[in-house]
Amino acid sequence: MFNLQKYLNQRRSFVEEHLVKRLPSIGHPPAMLSQAMRHAVLTGGKRLRPIVTLAACEAATGDLNNAVVAAVAVELIHCYTLVHDDLPCMDNDTTRRGEPTVWKKFGEANAVLAGDALQTLAFKTIASYPYPNPATAALICAELASVAGADGVIGGQVIDLEAGSKADPATVTYVHQHKTAALFRGAARIGAIAAQASQETINTLGEYGHNLGLAFQVIDDILDAPNGTPSKPDELSCLHVMTIAEARTLAREVTNTACKTLSRLAHPDKATPLEELALNMLNRLT
Ligand code: IPE
Ligand code: IPE
Ligand code: MG
Ligand code: MG
Repeated sequence: MFNLQKYLNQRRSFVEEHLVKRLPSIGHPPAMLSQAMRHAVLTGGKRLRPIVTLAACEAATGDLNNAVVAAVAVELIHCYTLVHDDLPCMDNDTTRRGEPTVWKKFGEANAVLAGDALQTLAFKTIASYPYPNPATAALICAELASVAGADGVIGGQVIDLEAGSKADPATVTYVHQHKTAALFRGAARIGAIAAQASQETINTLGEYGHNLGLAFQVIDDILDAPNGTPSKPDELSCLHVMTIAEARTLAREVTNTACKTLSRLAHPDKATPLEELALNMLNRLT
């Protein structure tokens, strides 16, 4: 029987072992920057996106050793988005993953620069990996740049900040698709690209990742509203345009869509981790 918790623990360790290898070592100059980058990445985190990359590679019958470096890059991008998202000019948060945020601990300018450095490290990490097919690195870089950039996470963040709690339903959907689902979609597609999968498989896994990401953000909005209303009333949340019950229904629907997508794969039996991850995420508490 497949044991999701055991699987997640194993994959998290695998990702973290490789993350440490890519980050600057303690004291590497400038020491403050290395410390800030390590703080941003190594203090907790569920590692869901890199685990999706690995599980997508598995579902596409690829070699995990050729996906782990790209999985690390996906997590580096995620961590950089969190560092910038927490800045005073954005969400002005002082804690993240139970620790002071990077700007709180190292100052605003260093947080901007540590985020920038994590982003460039992500692309360097992919570009310098010797893939069996040399074209793979460029394809993965292009995919990651596309989902993280102006047409993905950054575009979503711009509209998130602009609309805030006044967002209408269409804007909430736009923000969820871009600030969150895009990186999940990219994470899954990158796993398939690393597996040298067909375009059809890359697209199928991308659709899975997109719907998983939508469910993830709806659940995140619900978790950010422990008393039924968003804990930060000025920030965009789907709960400004729907009830908690409606949000739960939406999360279930997009999760079902994600799971159904997996049946289109050539080897759906290899997608059990992706399916179990999606179903389990509906009940996550953190
Ligand atoms: C938090 O993501 C940011 C959102 C997109 C809502 P996670 O909840 O995956 O953060 P970590 O990496 O586990 O801390
Ligand atoms: C986090 O988004 C950053 C991105 C999704 C890029 P939020 O602002 O919605 O999430 P938290 O609550 O700070 O983790
Ligand atoms: Mg935000
Ligand atoms: Mg935030």
